[in-house]
Amino acid sequence: MYTLVLSGPTYYQNKIQNLNIAIENQKISKLSKSKLKSEATIKTKDLILPGLIDPHVHFREPGNKHKETFRTGTCAAAAGGITTALDMPNNYRHITTKKLLQEKEKIVSKKAVIDYGLYLQAGIPSEADTPLMKYFLGFGSFDDYEKCYSKSTGVNVFHAEDPELFQEVENPTIYDHNTIHPPEAAEAACKFINSLYSKYQKPTHITHITTRQEVHTILPNITKGVTPPHLFLSIKNLDVLGTFGKVDPPLREEADRIYLLTHLDKIDCVGTDHAPHTPEEKEADYPAAKSGLPGIEDYISLLFTELHKGNLDLSTIVRLTHAGPAKIFGLKRGIATGNDADFTIIDRKKERIINVQDHFSKCGWTPYDGWKVRGEIQKTLVRGKTVFEKEVGILTRKWGKNLFKIDGK
Ligand code: NCD
Ligand code: ZN
Ligand code: ZN
Repeated sequence: MYTLVLSGPTYYQNKIQNLNIAIENQKISKLSKSKLKSEATIKTKDLILPGLIDPHVHFREPGNKHKETFRTGTCAAAAGGITTALDMPNNYRHITTKKLLQEKEKIVSKKAVIDYGLYLQAGIPSEADTPLMKYFLGFGSFDDYEKCYSKSTGVNVFHAEDPELFQEVENPTIYDHNTIHPPEAAEAACKFINSLYSKYQKPTHITHITTRQEVHTILPNITKGVTPPHLFLSIKNLDVLGTFGKVDPPLREEADRIYLLTHLDKIDCVGTDHAPHTPEEKEADYPAAKSGLPGIEDYISLLFTELHKGNLDLSTIVRLTHAGPAKIFGLKRGIATGNDADFTIIDRKKERIINVQDHFSKCGWTPYDGWKVRGEIQKTLVRGKTVFEKEVGILTRKWGKNLFKIDGK
């Protein structure tokens, strides 16, 4: 007799199969085509996917709690079907040391609804022996970055823009953002990252690439991520979004967006770069308006909308949202016995209109408001516990754990 059995159409071994999944002690204990006896059952007609992993979020706490908190951010993630999210270190005070990382862990561990990891901001070479390192070129010197990278023991994740190549424009508006942060700055940063990789061959990931040129420039062993804004928005959308469309790297030409969307076979993962700022912070004049767009709650529906249109297949969606990030970050995931029972259950055909009123994120706006999409998350299970259910909402105050803890915590 199992504690819990999840039954329904499951994306398993590259196809949809009717499965019964027994869950015991937070792990998958048996997969079967025949019925399994259990104390509790979750039976669904909706599609069961391996839990979505988002390797790039900004939940803002500690510090900027007026934009998001670790609770609201992880609630938004759960509602978006995400079971693990990796949180960036650009808090109000940047997380540059293991001590600050441990202090952050103390605060956020009490609030996490889903599993998570916390990045350390690279810059101080003696702090580089942490599992998740984020390099924001321009924050530290290239020399210090090389020292950090050469000493690193974990995954090195880069925001690839070389500030030396940023341009000046007189009386700039939002339409100049793509000129001020030009594609050449992204390409130059990729070349620097290539040179680090060639010298030291450490696990290396470039998050939010935005152009065809970067895809061609980056060495094959360096993994590449894209964000929903760079797949679904371009400078064309600035007429509607204005400064709300300010993001780094910028929204690019429509041709780059279409190139990325049609060459996802060359991309390793989607990270949402969920970067909440308040409407007041976004509607300031350019360049004062903050850079960054929220989007964690609807990105899977944006992808399923493309699937519905025949532009994407299910195996690509699962690779980009689950298997790809799991591999890059060394997470033992996937639907297999012994693995954590993380599942995303989605009504994949459901047509709906994105409405910011439905959102859990604190920031209160979305660039996709009013978009007609396909796919609605019905349930999110983290280690066997239902943390989100469509009809009810969030079902826990705290369940998430840090999957990348460092010693001394
Ligand atoms: C991010 C943020 O708001 O923290 N902004 C953004 O434009 N993407 C920072 C980042 O990911 O570079
Ligand atoms: Zn970035
Ligand atoms: Zn980011």
